[in-house]
Amino acid sequence: MEKMIIHGGAPLRGTVTLSGSKNAALPIMMASLLTSEPLHLSNVPRLRDVKTAMELLSQLGVAARWIDEHRVELHAAKVTSHEASYELVKTMRASFVVLGPLLARTGRARVSTPGGCAIGARPVNLHIAGIRALGSKIQFRHGYVEAHAEKLTGGRIWLDSPSVGATENILMAAVTARGHTAIENAAREPEVQDLVQVLIKMGAKITGAGTHVIEIEGVERLHGAEHEVIADRIEAGSMMAAAAITGGDVTIANAPIEHLEAVATKLREAGVTVESNGKGLRVARTNGLKSVELRTLPYPGFPTDLQAQMMAMLTQAEGTSVITETIFENRFMHAQELARMGADILMKGPTAVIRGPSKLSGAPVMATDLRASMGLIIAGLAAEHTTELSRIYHLDRGYEALDAKLSGLGARIERAPE
Ligand code: UD1
Repeated sequence: MEKMIIHGGAPLRGTVTLSGSKNAALPIMMASLLTSEPLHLSNVPRLRDVKTAMELLSQLGVAARWIDEHRVELHAAKVTSHEASYELVKTMRASFVVLGPLLARTGRARVSTPGGCAIGARPVNLHIAGIRALGSKIQFRHGYVEAHAEKLTGGRIWLDSPSVGATENILMAAVTARGHTAIENAAREPEVQDLVQVLIKMGAKITGAGTHVIEIEGVERLHGAEHEVIADRIEAGSMMAAAAITGGDVTIANAPIEHLEAVATKLREAGVTVESNGKGLRVARTNGLKSVELRTLPYPGFPTDLQAQMMAMLTQAEGTSVITETIFENRFMHAQELARMGADILMKGPTAVIRGPSKLSGAPVMATDLRASMGLIIAGLAAEHTTELSRIYHLDRGYEALDAKLSGLGARIERAPE
């Protein structure tokens, strides 16, 4: 096991390039099950979760291989298993999205239910209701969902909440179903839109991606395709918060600016310069940070995946900031760790009240999830002395070469054995 050691105080300066989006890459990889022809993906991030997805696909009989540093070939000439084991799904919840494409391709799927996780209960009822509405029989046995359908048929599905994973699962089940499917109150996230782009390249007939209603006209079969995964907007937002907290000046070369409206707006409100400068998105700060209020919301609202990073940054803002988390009920575990570093944070149900600026001092800290880990690193970048973050396997699930990228911007950060 490794830990990350951060020596605070250095302003970040320079240019950084984002990796491909983890949350786009994972469901897109699962789409390879929908065709017997190869799917070629580029800009795939080298992450532990991507490795897990490769493993899962291999277990199902897909020839999954890296072609070079960021390109993979996924070839599901034959699907030889229809089971996603508890072992895999418990290490990566996103594995559950294999249900839709597996069922569509083979008529059967047996997928472990994910159970709760550190940030909340995260049920899969919407995934199941959607798959059922497409005519699949569903049974729950021994901790697994068993789905069976001779031929899926289109249907109208209204999602109680615009779940990203449920939208993706239903989409992939519906593309080869008989007839027309409409997903109402669908997730509008850029990652869902990227999946739709791939499916369209593979021959699917889909309209409405990025709106509240996605419509799918089932086709007989899909074929192979090539696709470049979009840049990671959550990595972008994390770098933006890191640049801002250190009073730095960072350009994000390939920032997906159109996906970062909510984040840019809140940073500008906090007194940070966020502008396109011809080379990318420039994020800089010379004056003090100002307090802001924000709520996490489904896209295009402020992403829950940047809540911890924003909280870390706001510990340095003048005045009282208020963050309300509306997506995951338990996603404030970083608040106590930030408090141990000297932050003044008051928790009231789903709301955190942050009074600042408070002097942060380095401390040994530990995170229970990926984004919380990043929040603690951001705090460490602005803290006096040394912060030691343990359990960094969380970070390696979702940030590619984070220490190298931050070092490249002048941060003093290194890995060490725990
Ligand atoms: C995805 C992202 C995750 C992000 C989240 C919200 C991936 C791999 N992960 O997770 O990083 O934080 O979107 O933007 O893309 N819900 C139900 N029933 C369901 C499904 C969801 O009640 O069947 C609830 C969840 O508990 C949560 C909310 O809906 O409160 C949103 O979850 P969802 O959009 O499904 O998140 P994920 O797809 O799991």
